[in-house]
Amino acid sequence: MADKIWTNVNLITMQDNGHAYGLMENVSMVIEHDYIAWIGPEEEIPNHYDYEMESTDGDYMTPGLIDCHTHLIYGGNRIDEFELRLKGASYEEIAKSGGGILSTVNATRAATEGDLIESAKKRLTHFKSEGVTTIEIKSGYGLDLDTELKMLSAARALNISPAIDVIPTFLGAHALPPEFKDNRQGYIDLIVEEMLPKIAELNMTKAVDGFCENIGFTYPEMEQIFTRAKELGFDLKLHAEQLSDQQGAALAAKYGALSADHLEHLTEESIIQMKEAGTTAVLLPGAFYFLRDTKCPPIDLLRKHDVPMAVASDSNPGSSPALSLKLMINMATTLFKLTPEEALAGVTRNAAKALGLNDRGMIKEGMLADLVRWDISHPAELAYHFGGNQVKAVYKNGEQVL
Ligand code: NIG
Ligand code: FE
Repeated sequence: MADKIWTNVNLITMQDNGHAYGLMENVSMVIEHDYIAWIGPEEEIPNHYDYEMESTDGDYMTPGLIDCHTHLIYGGNRIDEFELRLKGASYEEIAKSGGGILSTVNATRAATEGDLIESAKKRLTHFKSEGVTTIEIKSGYGLDLDTELKMLSAARALNISPAIDVIPTFLGAHALPPEFKDNRQGYIDLIVEEMLPKIAELNMTKAVDGFCENIGFTYPEMEQIFTRAKELGFDLKLHAEQLSDQQGAALAAKYGALSADHLEHLTEESIIQMKEAGTTAVLLPGAFYFLRDTKCPPIDLLRKHDVPMAVASDSNPGSSPALSLKLMINMATTLFKLTPEEALAGVTRNAAKALGLNDRGMIKEGMLADLVRWDISHPAELAYHFGGNQVKAVYKNGEQVL
């Protein structure tokens, strides 16, 4: 939209160009029709780009940040359960006694679509203020067709162009709804026979996710859902190996899923299968932190097998009421020992991969001009501070949105 040229800018491109962070220092960049048209030395800017020029005086820019795993839309909150957990109750115990995800399901069923939009919009403001230009939002607190559609429709309403792209994901297999308490297969059948075809018909999402866990769904149950979802042309994602090893990541790989997420209990065998399938590992340090987990995902093995690692907030009322993707960059380094460069790749290049988006996540000719201008003196500073906000300006599709 707003065609322009920046000069004297330090680009943290996140391209794999042999430089740490794909850094390109003191270059010029041309933005044309929502996209990055050209990058190079100022004296070589092609004549036909006769747009307004602005020197950034050496500011650093990154790609717009991408939060590739959130549950931002929900009714109510789970502050009471937070207090119970601090007194010793575990996340699993709370879930088994009918709280946890199901308590949010009750609140979400009771909320109107307008309520859901309003409460999520407030949370979204925090992410946007930190340079998030693309955010994934899952359904999964409805667990009946109407409420799942209400959540997905709310996600659509939050997709406010050009400020932010909201990528909705269908998470019908998040928990067993109370009305199917004694009929697990009945709920799987409902997802397979009614929900998936309806969501495909209405074109509400590109991707289908599930929670493969002893408090979620088993490998064979998820396999039924994946089989049908794949037939209908959906991309796949899976909450896997968060609390125990269910071979979920291997299942995700078997079905060519875009990502397997959480992964604290991931094994090397599954990592090898993820590598072969091109499945991205999504790390969620907020959930690890808030559940006071002690078992880290096997970062060394993911590195050894060169599996791309994304980092996301998992923003949700139960296990990660995070309002900051920026904080997750810091936590990925301090808690999981990612390098600052890996953590930044996790919220840019690899987050795009986890969402199957190839038009963003790097500063590169031909990519969307989703950019953040920062008040920092080194790229690693983005992982260094926690708290505060170093954003100077945010651009979505080339247009300044903050
Ligand atoms: O990613 N693990 C399953 N789902 C969410 C938590 C949802 C909740 O507790 O409300 C997660 O951590
Ligand atoms: Fe999640």
